[in-house]
Amino acid sequence: MEFVSVRTATIRPDTELMFDVYVLFQDSYLKYRSATQSFNTPSLDRFKAKKVKKIYIPQEQETQYLSYLDKALEQLQKKDLSVSNRAELAQDTLKQEADSISKTLESEEAYRSSESRIQQVVDFMISEPKALAGMLTSAGLSVDDSAHGSTVSSLVLAVGTASKYMNRDELTDAAVAGLLHDSALKKLGFDVKSDITNISKEKRIDFKKHPAIAVEQVAGKQFITPRVLRIITDHEEYGEGLGFPEKKWFEKLQVDSQIFNLCDAFDHFSIQAGKASKDCFDDFVAARGEHFDMDLIQILEQQVKA
Ligand SMILES: [Fe+2]
Ligand SMILES: [Fe+2]
Repeated sequence: MEFVSVRTATIRPDTELMFDVYVLFQDSYLKYRSATQSFNTPSLDRFKAKKVKKIYIPQEQETQYLSYLDKALEQLQKKDLSVSNRAELAQDTLKQEADSISKTLESEEAYRSSESRIQQVVDFMISEPKALAGMLTSAGLSVDDSAHGSTVSSLVLAVGTASKYMNRDELTDAAVAGLLHDSALKKLGFDVKSDITNISKEKRIDFKKHPAIAVEQVAGKQFITPRVLRIITDHEEYGEGLGFPEKKWFEKLQVDSQIFNLCDAFDHFSIQAGKASKDCFDDFVAARGEHFDMDLIQILEQQVKA
């Protein structure tokens, strides 16, 4: 049997699973729950305590998992649930979408269903201006590419919403760009911890190709909008032509790109510093503030420190 991994955090307590759950134990998949069963809060807490972040489901039951996810997402708009619970669900949804992005891109149908889940996160953030703090707590420190992608998406959604500079479609596209923008790093031999300032000169040429290669990987796909491609292309441009690949001036970029580039640089800074967002914000501004727009930095600050 083939298995696919899903984030443990996307499993809701006391809700019928609709799919069989397996855990990986000493290289074997062991059946843990069947589709008609559910998890209660203490058992999910035990997973959390043991840092079991992923569980496995049979590949042929993936569609059931996606419908389960869609159902769970309805909770995002339920005002009787606490903002922090819903923020956690929103962040886990973005993480799950980041994990499965390469599969999602294989068909328009899969892409549209992922896009509609992202849109529900967007709607949640539009309706809950203080959601970001809970999302960042749930995100933790970005440790891998997909965690970085989802954290950038939530930062951009928060600043894009709070600034009122971006509408729902623009927010959704920016969140998709968040999941994709650094997707070529691995292929080129880098990761989210790579920093241009301490890469050897020869390797810098390769590093600078990562936005263009990320675009190439999705450019033929009709369902990816030109806006997503532009945001990815320009995501390393900052200051007065200090970035790459085109050395564009930050202030001449479109506002969605300005917001994106600021949030992306901030999460890379936080990864480098090994500190939570709110604990390294001032250091970030001291080191990189001049490369971005002060008003946007202030909005980001209010969101991160809320
Ligand atoms: Fe990048
Ligand atoms: Fe990035």
